[in-house]
This record gives sequence, C-alpha cells and structure tokens, in this order.
Amino acid sequence: MLQNPVIEVNGLTKRYGDFSAVDGIDFTVGSGEFFGFVGPNGAGKTTTISMLCTLAKPTAGTATIAGFDVAAQSDQVRRQIGVVFQEATLDNRLTARENLAFHAAVYHVPRAERDARLADVLDLVELTRFADDIVDNFSGGMRRRLEVARGLLHSPKVLFLDEPTLGLDPQTRNRIWEYLRRLADRDDMTVFMTTHYMDEAENCDRVAVIDRGALVAVDTPAALKRQTGETTLDGVFLKLTGQAIRDEDVLTNKHMSRIAAKAKGGR
Ligand SMILES: Nc1ncnc2c1ncn2[C@@H]1O[C@H](COP(=O)(O)OP(=O)(O)OP(=O)(O)O)[C@@H](O)[C@H]1O
Ligand SMILES: [Mg+2]
Repeated sequence: MLQNPVIEVNGLTKRYGDFSAVDGIDFTVGSGEFFGFVGPNGAGKTTTISMLCTLAKPTAGTATIAGFDVAAQSDQVRRQIGVVFQEATLDNRLTARENLAFHAAVYHVPRAERDARLADVLDLVELTRFADDIVDNFSGGMRRRLEVARGLLHSPKVLFLDEPTLGLDPQTRNRIWEYLRRLADRDDMTVFMTTHYMDEAENCDRVAVIDRGALVAVDTPAALKRQTGETTLDGVFLKLTGQAIRDEDVLTNKHMSRIAAKAKGGR
C-alpha cells in the first residue's frame, strides 16, 4: 500500500455504446510519484486521462485526486491538476506570454501572483527570451515546452501529460524530463504521463500497462522485467500486449459506436 495516495482509481469504466474503452481499472498513485501509462494505440490511455482530468464522465467506478471525486467535485479536482494534452492547445496568433496569461486568467491564478508565475514557468522551460514572440514562429519543441509551462502555471499537485514528447527530438525530450524531475523534487508534484517511448517509461517510478481497456500490469520497470523474464521494457510491452497492430480495432470501435449513436437518434 502506498504511503500518500494522491490518485485513487476504483473500477473506472468508460463505455461508448456497447464498447468499453476503459473497462474497470484499479490503481493508486503516490504523492511525488512519476507514473507512466503505456499501451498500444486505442488501448484507453487518453480516455483514462480525460476521466481523471474531469473532461469525460466515467460510466462506472470512481476516481479521486487528492481526495476529491472526479465526477462529483470536478471544480476542486481542476484546482489540483495541470494538463498537457495530446493535441496542441496554444493560440498561434498570440505570444508565449499572452498564451500563458490567458490560461492564468481562466484558471484564476490570483492577479498578484500572475507575473511571478509566468516568469517562473517560462524560465523553467527556457523560453524567457522568446516570451514576446508569437507562437506561430516557434519550433515544435518550443511549442511543446510552452504547453508544459502552461500545464504548470497554477502550481498543480498532479500534472497529467498525454504523450508530451511525441515527435520531439531527443534533446527536447530530455529537457522536458529534466523540467518535470526538477518540479517533482522541488514541489513534490506527481506526474502521470502516457508515452509510446519505452526509454521514457524506463525513467518512471512505476509503469501501468493498459491493453483493450484493461490494466495488464502495474509495477516498477525492474519488477516488470523480472516478472516477464525480459531484459528491456520494449520486450515487456510486446510480451504483455502482443504483436498485433491496433489500427483496425480503433476504426471498428469508432465506426460501431457511430452506428449505435445513429440508431439512438444521435449524430
Ligand atoms: N468518442 C468516442 N466514441 C467512440 N469510441 C471512442 C471515442 N473516443 C475513443 N474511442 C475509442 O476508445 C478506444 C480508446 O481510445 P483512446 O483514445 O483512449 O486510446 P489511446 O490509448 O489514447 O490511444 P493512442 O495511443 O492512439 O493515443 C479506442 O478504440 C477509440 O476508438
Ligand atoms: Mg491517446
């Protein structure tokens, strides 16, 4: 049992029609822990994060963040969390600073603290020099770093990141990890991150493997290797989730649920 659980998930389920994208998962994440969430395309990672971040309503089960229920106490939950989404969420016509200021206003960062918080997060992701440039001119790596800064703006207790390092060069990936490590150490922040990069999962304190909506393993990278008799996490991943490519599943599921929705009179 973990000493200080900050995320507690029990029987969490998300169904679209007859299809369970997330099917009764249970796990706990401790305060200050780096928790990796891995699984093939369409496994249910983004759906799980969406429920934990109060953006999607669970069909069944419960989840709490710092003791607050994601369904019944979404406002309190939102105050505890930062989110870095899989898709870009920045306004390219605005400067880095303007993007952050907008987010600070939406998240009610007190006016008196705003300038200091903005300076702090820009400094952390090494974008102070570019604070007043419009995001449209930024490289992919700079945009990603700004997304991370945005997620950190209201000093979250838990930071959720959905594939934050997708498509980034190794230098930028390393830097993003350094920023997160520094904050986890400095502020005891908990990091919940999905990734398809097993070298990143290797750096997590614990890793959960999800496949077809079900959790198939949760443990430290070393224990997962020991249990499966594999020498690499790539090997563990393939052993636990098989060799098949999942694209067709994903299309079939979306297609089927669209048909079901139509049948019910939806779009
Ligand atoms: N709104 C929706 N309606 C129907 N099915 C959906 C919906 N959203 C997601 N799904 C299905 O739920 C499953 C899980 O999707 P999810 O996006 O959580 O996967 P993922 O693990 O994040 O995948 P990836 O690695 O590709 O990001 C997929 O089969 C997907 O097609
Ligand atoms: Mg996803």
